[in-house]
Amino acid sequence: MKTVEKAGAWDAEAYDGRHSFVWKLADHLLAMLAPQPGERILDVGSGTGHLTARIAGAGATVVGIDSSPDMVEEARRHYPDIDFRCADIRTFVTSEPFDAVFSNATLHWVGEPKLTAFRIREALRPGGRFVAEFGAKGNIHSITNAATEALEAVGAPPRNGRNLWYFPDEAEYRTILNKAGFAVDVVRTTDRPTELDDSESGMKNWLTVFGRHYFEDLSPEQASKFIEMVEASLRPTLFQDGRWTADYRRILVAAYRPAIQQQF
Ligand code: BEZ
Repeated sequence: MKTVEKAGAWDAEAYDGRHSFVWKLADHLLAMLAPQPGERILDVGSGTGHLTARIAGAGATVVGIDSSPDMVEEARRHYPDIDFRCADIRTFVTSEPFDAVFSNATLHWVGEPKLTAFRIREALRPGGRFVAEFGAKGNIHSITNAATEALEAVGAPPRNGRNLWYFPDEAEYRTILNKAGFAVDVVRTTDRPTELDDSESGMKNWLTVFGRHYFEDLSPEQASKFIEMVEASLRPTLFQDGRWTADYRRILVAAYRPAIQQQF
């Protein structure tokens, strides 16, 4: 589930160990997918494979794709019987279309949302469904603001694209889905403040795993100062009872490829 050009290698072990909320908070999404025995399902951004395994546990045949070789290796280690492949959804093509495409906490990492939606549509058989959740417009707004200010304060060289994620609003994403040829059932945004693991170090760990691109131009001293400043700025609002919370906002999507495709 790596994007975009700018992100470096994932630390799959840290992701799995300290950020398990990513896959533990997806029960509602799995319920919405409702995988059936014998179905073929594509999991886009399968990460360390835990949700892929739950889909397989329902009797579906699942292919998990992730653009990070580290994640794919870790997923194969956990679940050697599942088909995990290193692939980017933007270039993914299949000769065996799927009954459903599923994606949790991934699509905000992928640039080119129109192309992504088109590839997902193409990966589905006519009538096949797409169920996904990822960051919506306003997601981690406090964190990105604090990070931007702290980078400036520690004297980081100016650089474009530090907040590299794609967080659309409902109208924008609905249009993208429609233009890619989907019929849309649900596009809904919700605030989902998310408690981070690891008590006092929670924000630091979040920043170093998910915001590692922030550190690319920083010396070790600047990096420490950066973390200190972000924590100080966010503590009054995002730290309570010894735990950090991230101001997540999600966009939930359910759409399908019509059995008869309209011409655009
Ligand atoms: C998210 O799941 O919303 C997210 C995680 C890491 C970075 C940005 C967004």
